[in-house]
Amino acid sequence: MQLEVKDLNTYYGESHVLQDMSVAVNNGEIVALLGRNGMGKSTTLKSIMGLVKPKSGSILFQGKDITNYPPYKTAKIGIGYVPEERRIFPNLSVIDNLKMGIKHGAGFKNTGRNKWTIDRIFEHFPFMKARTHQKGALLSGGEQQMLAIGRTLMGNPDLLLVDEPTEGLAPVMVQEVRDILKEINKTGVSILLVEHNLKVAMSLANRVYLMGKAHLGFTGTKAELDARPDIRAKYLEV
Ligand SMILES: Nc1ncnc2c1ncn2[C@@H]1O[C@H](COP(=O)(O)OP(=O)(O)O)[C@@H](O)[C@H]1O
Ligand SMILES: [Mg+2]
Repeated sequence: MQLEVKDLNTYYGESHVLQDMSVAVNNGEIVALLGRNGMGKSTTLKSIMGLVKPKSGSILFQGKDITNYPPYKTAKIGIGYVPEERRIFPNLSVIDNLKMGIKHGAGFKNTGRNKWTIDRIFEHFPFMKARTHQKGALLSGGEQQMLAIGRTLMGNPDLLLVDEPTEGLAPVMVQEVRDILKEINKTGVSILLVEHNLKVAMSLANRVYLMGKAHLGFTGTKAELDARPDIRAKYLEV
């Protein structure tokens, strides 16, 4: 198991927004985390990153206990995060946005299979090469999403946490973002994907976790979920 999240309890003030939440990702896998709005999907990713602190529970990454790691240490150990609000730098050029993703300092893995360079990013995202010096703000929503993904890849993650990457995108861009996630996964990066588009999620993931309010409602393979319309009706928008 690459990532093993067990029994997380996370609070915002008095509000108990994760109750014994568990999720796991194997090396090389794409796993989908699904559920209606407000269930706690984003909070699960933020808890893994260390952006919010769980009160109890454990997070293991490659066998190492990272439960109380601050975000920079979580990134350093090989977990990349693409937040729901894409947060690209609107006044920086495409290439400068990518360079912001480079992680410096001792301990960052800058070799091996998951070593990303600007040229390699351009191979996967050709539009960026054509628009290297254009400001982020001038990109379309889908292009900004891809820039946010590309920037995170520049940190050479082994696991990507991606929050609602197709939200608000035109259908053709939804497809492009889907395809790029598939391609990135093929390079050896595992992905924990929060996604509201069930079709997109099911076309990428082999295993799914469905959240009810604050807790895990169902987990199984794609085939197991396909066989359970009752579960889909209970936990997903239909
Ligand atoms: N910063 C915050 N402060 C207080 N409550 C929050 C905060 N962020 C999210 N929540 C609440 O926590 C719950 C889970 O939110 P979230 O993890 O964003 O859900 P999801 O991503 O599944 O839509 C919701 O009830 C939401 O209103
Ligand atoms: Mg969310």
